[in-house]
Amino acid sequence: QTDEIKEEFRPKLHFTPEKNWVNDPNGMFYYDGEYHLFYQYNPYGTKWGHMSWGHAVSTDLIKWNHLPVALEEENGVMIFSGSAVVDWNNSSGFGSGSKPAIVAIYTSYDAKTGFQHQSIAYSNDKGRTFTKYKGNPVLNIDSKEFRDPKVFWYEPEQKWIMTLALSTEHKIQFYSSKNLKDWNLMSEFGPKGVITGVWECPDLFTLKYKGKTKWVLGVNLGSGSIAGGSGLQYFIGEFDGKNFVADQSASEKSNEVNYIDYGKDFYAAVTWNGAPDKKGTKTWLGWMNNWQYANDIPTNGWRGSMSLPRKLILDKEQGKYIIRQEAVQSVENYIKSKTKLKGETLARINQKIEETDLKELTFEMAYEFEPSKISGHLEFEILNNDKSIFQLTFNKSTNEFVVKRVDNNLKDEFQSTQKITLSNNADKSINVRLFLDKNSVEVFINDGRYVFTNVIFPKDFNTKIHFSSTDDSLSKMKAITISKY
Ligand code: FRU
Repeated sequence: QTDEIKEEFRPKLHFTPEKNWVNDPNGMFYYDGEYHLFYQYNPYGTKWGHMSWGHAVSTDLIKWNHLPVALEEENGVMIFSGSAVVDWNNSSGFGSGSKPAIVAIYTSYDAKTGFQHQSIAYSNDKGRTFTKYKGNPVLNIDSKEFRDPKVFWYEPEQKWIMTLALSTEHKIQFYSSKNLKDWNLMSEFGPKGVITGVWECPDLFTLKYKGKTKWVLGVNLGSGSIAGGSGLQYFIGEFDGKNFVADQSASEKSNEVNYIDYGKDFYAAVTWNGAPDKKGTKTWLGWMNNWQYANDIPTNGWRGSMSLPRKLILDKEQGKYIIRQEAVQSVENYIKSKTKLKGETLARINQKIEETDLKELTFEMAYEFEPSKISGHLEFEILNNDKSIFQLTFNKSTNEFVVKRVDNNLKDEFQSTQKITLSNNADKSINVRLFLDKNSVEVFINDGRYVFTNVIFPKDFNTKIHFSSTDDSLSKMKAITISKY
């Protein structure tokens, strides 16, 4: 049964299901002007169970149109995570008429036996309704930890490639197919990097840096990630249509891991297939949650949300490739009012924040500062009923950003301190874009080089937002734009 739906924590800019439980984003593809988002969904309750694929479409990735459940649990076989492709060449033979078939590739999980197989379903109506293939499963290796197929078209060899996880073995397998039905194992990757938790929802995709194509392998970690619990590590390297080989960098020898997000709530992110991405970028989003407490977050009638969709950009830092993330530009179309200040003290900025009235709690702060103009530290803080629930602090002496999240109503794993040390030199100006949307704070530092994603649950929305430093009348920001959405 569904409990009464309460809207108190419902974000404005982020995807949430109208009711019931959501986890991973699934089956994301772009076709005919529409971005499709499917998602792990329990049609019958607000906790994980009866996994099916919910469905929504959007033309701008922000405003979502809810559609009926696309793939439902059947005879105790759940529909776990996976992907979807547009079969332009009708390689599968599922096409009919002039429109290409949409083919979903997912893990069918038999709750009675625990086995996980890969299955497919097709749609002849632009992804509105799906028919499960009669020959399912299409891939079976008699495993209980074999899931989350992400399929893409590999143009040079005119074949489909499937990336999926042997979760407890910490291996990624790559399969190829000409028709989406018959799959051949090509190679494996791992164990590598973080192997404490299970490996889930992998994704292999390209990004470009100054015209050069690199391959990225994203590996979601069920637990043991940087902030504790779920998270995502990635590898950058080469792929020849068969094998993925991670670049051997100096940092890798020292066992340094690439994390995409340093907060607690960015999981199961995978990229959109076929999106009109510019200049070798990709678009994705993640589930804003953490398996440590996902089933307990205090919303009513619905539970879970997605991150803002983000653009992935390949960059280089001290000779090493890294990925930056930026909020998709279309979010800015929802700005209702903007306040810009230049060269003002924190004292003045705080006054302005008060006048701006942010109590609806959907806003963005974009600020830039030079450490030399700040006394001691620069802290952004959210207080709820006079208690500090979120802080983002830059400490000059250590060149560190520290996030602190506290919520006394929630369990220990929810309380969190997160930290990164900036890799650029200490006297450069630093930019931050912080999006707060009712139940989350997403922080993008230095053009998205570092990102912290965290959910928050401010009760009654009796909140206060302010900046502070050792001396607020001395500390100055170069610029700040406060946008209300
Ligand atoms: C990741 C995950 C996937 C699985 C799905 C089940 O959060 O555990 O590995 O397919 O969720 O809902």
